[in-house]
Amino acid sequence: MPMQAKPEIPTGLPIPDPAGAAHSNAVAGYIRMKIAESGGSIGFAEFMQFALYAPGLGYYNAGSTKFGPGGDFVTAPELSPLFGRVLAVQCAELLPGLSAHHLLEVGAGSGALAIQVLGKLAALNALPEKYFILEPSAELQARQRHRIARELPTLLPRVEWIHGWPRTFAGVVIANEVADALPVTRFVIRAGKVLELRVSAGAAGFEWLEQDATASLRAAVSRIETELSTTLLDGYVSEVCLPMPAWIGDLAACLSEGFVFLFDYGMSRREYYSAEHRGGCLRCHFRHRVHNDPLILPGIQDLSAWVDFSLVAEAAVNGGMEVAGFVTQAHFLLDGGLQRELEQLSTLPVREQFELSRQVKLLTLPGEMGEHFKCLGLSKGSDAVPSALRQSDRAHTL
Ligand SMILES: C[S@@+](CC[C@H](N)C(=O)[O-])C[C@H]1O[C@@H](n2cnc3c(N)ncnc32)[C@H](O)[C@@H]1O
Repeated sequence: MPMQAKPEIPTGLPIPDPAGAAHSNAVAGYIRMKIAESGGSIGFAEFMQFALYAPGLGYYNAGSTKFGPGGDFVTAPELSPLFGRVLAVQCAELLPGLSAHHLLEVGAGSGALAIQVLGKLAALNALPEKYFILEPSAELQARQRHRIARELPTLLPRVEWIHGWPRTFAGVVIANEVADALPVTRFVIRAGKVLELRVSAGAAGFEWLEQDATASLRAAVSRIETELSTTLLDGYVSEVCLPMPAWIGDLAACLSEGFVFLFDYGMSRREYYSAEHRGGCLRCHFRHRVHNDPLILPGIQDLSAWVDFSLVAEAAVNGGMEVAGFVTQAHFLLDGGLQRELEQLSTLPVREQFELSRQVKLLTLPGEMGEHFKCLGLSKGSDAVPSALRQSDRAHTL
């Protein structure tokens, strides 16, 4: 099978410090071993899984800072407490109408969002009975516990960490930038055939290797083409998130009644697999630089892929949920009461108000997080649609 040349390391990336470089070497050694055990190559989904989650080594399972200014990327709750405050108001709208007053946060990162949501719900006198956190990384669980104990000690007893989807759950589920971390399978179209882009180990580093696609990958690409009434052109490179339907299916299966807020950067299937995105939608973060070479810096850079929200919505509907709304992050925040939150903070010193204005711009401007980031609202057993999703719904684009 032909080998593809390894992409150039993008210029402008910072050089890892010695500890980071040593850690990345250890992760690379682990992945090389897995590649050797698999006979010379692994799928990109496996590569992503190892680089992010290898026990004690992967990006999310080892000690690097990751979030915020000292890390590699900034998520909305890391950027501003306003994000969690608006989301909390939306939860407060929904919780009284549900049979159980529980929240479940999936993939809680540093714990920033949990603190914002719980803090605001406490101020509204609308605290959930329980705030469950589903977090696969033991290292992040410990960080979340420590931070909540420090910043909201009286609310810590309400927080409970769980290791998988609950058997049954009624309440509100929130997940910010979690779906983008699910491993994706990469493919390229060659002479009308779907080939899988796998990863092999070369002398200088990891390399792409093209190989006949598995039946499940071929079926997934064929479905995309059928749904879009299109044929992907020769040389078209992209990815599919094969575990997404099962992940959403598991969520739907455990939700007896309630609402899901799923935030992520992403788009409809039609946009995702358009000619504009013919190189795919992988996104790598290292020290606040975004680039698209996932094969470098294993274990010390974040790997993610834009979310195909049409795929998510289909899986949700197949699992018995309904799409309650699909809006940009800007609309979610502006229609969901951002202005009210700002007014409530208008007694803060001027310098802090300037900082809040800066955060609002980053959260809502189209060139920042406002448009690429979306919120998909899913419901089960309830007709309630929260105010943030009512006015600017684009679910018809899915
Ligand atoms: C990019 S971080 C986002 C963290 C946080 N939600 C935020 O907005 O700052 C991804 C988070 O999802 C978690 N995660 C990854 N895969 C997951 C899965 N399959 N189920 C639940 N959480 C997952 C990671 O451990 C991490 O906490």
